[in-house]
Amino acid sequence: MRTMELGKSGLEVPVVSIGCMRINSLDKPSAEEYVKTALDLGANFFDHADIYGGGSCEEIFSEAINMNPTIREKMILQSKCGIRNGMFDFSKEHILDSVDGILKRLKTEYLDILLLHRPDTLVEPDEVAEAFNQLESSGKVRHFGVSNQKPMQIELLKKSIRQPIVANQLQLSITNANMISQGFNVNMENEASIDRDGSILDYCRLHDITIQPWSPFQYGFFEGVFLGNDKFPELNERINEVADKYGVSNTTIAVAWILRHPAKMQPVIGTMNLERLKDCCNAADLHMTREEWYSIYRAAGNILP
Ligand SMILES: NC(=O)c1ccc[n+]([C@@H]2O[C@H](COP(=O)([O-])OP(=O)(O)OC[C@H]3O[C@@H](n4cnc5c(N)ncnc54)[C@H](OP(=O)(O)O)[C@@H]3O)[C@@H](O)[C@H]2O)c1
Repeated sequence: MRTMELGKSGLEVPVVSIGCMRINSLDKPSAEEYVKTALDLGANFFDHADIYGGGSCEEIFSEAINMNPTIREKMILQSKCGIRNGMFDFSKEHILDSVDGILKRLKTEYLDILLLHRPDTLVEPDEVAEAFNQLESSGKVRHFGVSNQKPMQIELLKKSIRQPIVANQLQLSITNANMISQGFNVNMENEASIDRDGSILDYCRLHDITIQPWSPFQYGFFEGVFLGNDKFPELNERINEVADKYGVSNTTIAVAWILRHPAKMQPVIGTMNLERLKDCCNAADLHMTREEWYSIYRAAGNILP
């Protein structure tokens, strides 16, 4: 698997990361086979969150691979905290408690990366800084990042924290591409011109923060998969044409479309199907042309001025 540096962390990571939000749909032997297959493909970066399956996804993962120090060193583990019981919570106490729970469930001494899951408007950046310092000095967390945050929310955190923000996990797919569309439609009188995220794409590029697109196959907010979906005939036709040209699956093309962007994003894929897992990893080596990228973008109904 092709690798890249995550933000300015010095950490080399595979360009495709494995989301574990749906791993609780697998029984133990299937989960074991799934993680083993990912590792064999060089996809050794696993994304978790304390809330996935109410914590069960982290447990299923570590049990599936019989977590031990030797296997731990073969992988890069990321998890998230900050969402709980109908609220968001970036308090020092919650961050520290949450990380202890994550480490216990993953059966590891440390996380490679901790992300703050969703912005908490009651955040006290100094408290976050204290939590990060404690987690770093105790060796429990090596790198820090955010998820679903706008530039100014990151700037607010940066006022207090001294560790670099290495990643920002954001929703992005061919059919959910406002962060890209708004950059084309500057100052136009159309929906696409609405800047919904404070130009987060450009901000992350400027500040060397790796964007980790989540749900790269979904349209809407978990409404379904756009591939093979009758709601997107033109898009599927175009994706299939490009897939035929390269002799790959439509799944590979959907991931390759994200990887073609020069922002050097690291998509977080959620399939639990072994064939689709391989197809996603295949995308690491496919560099589509500029014409193909734009034609797929337009075929999804995205507009250019
Ligand atoms: N930071 C955040 O707020 C946030 C939010 C949501 C998710 N995430 C992260 O992002 C990861 C991915 O999210 P996701 O699972 O919603 O993403 P996804 O990869 O877009 O969707 C995967 C789902 O689509 C299904 N699917 C059906 N056909 C498919 C095809 N041709 N190709 C690929 N998938 C197909 C998969 O089923 P099969 O298993 O049968 O393939 C699976 O249920 C999560 O695991 C989590 O780590 C983060």
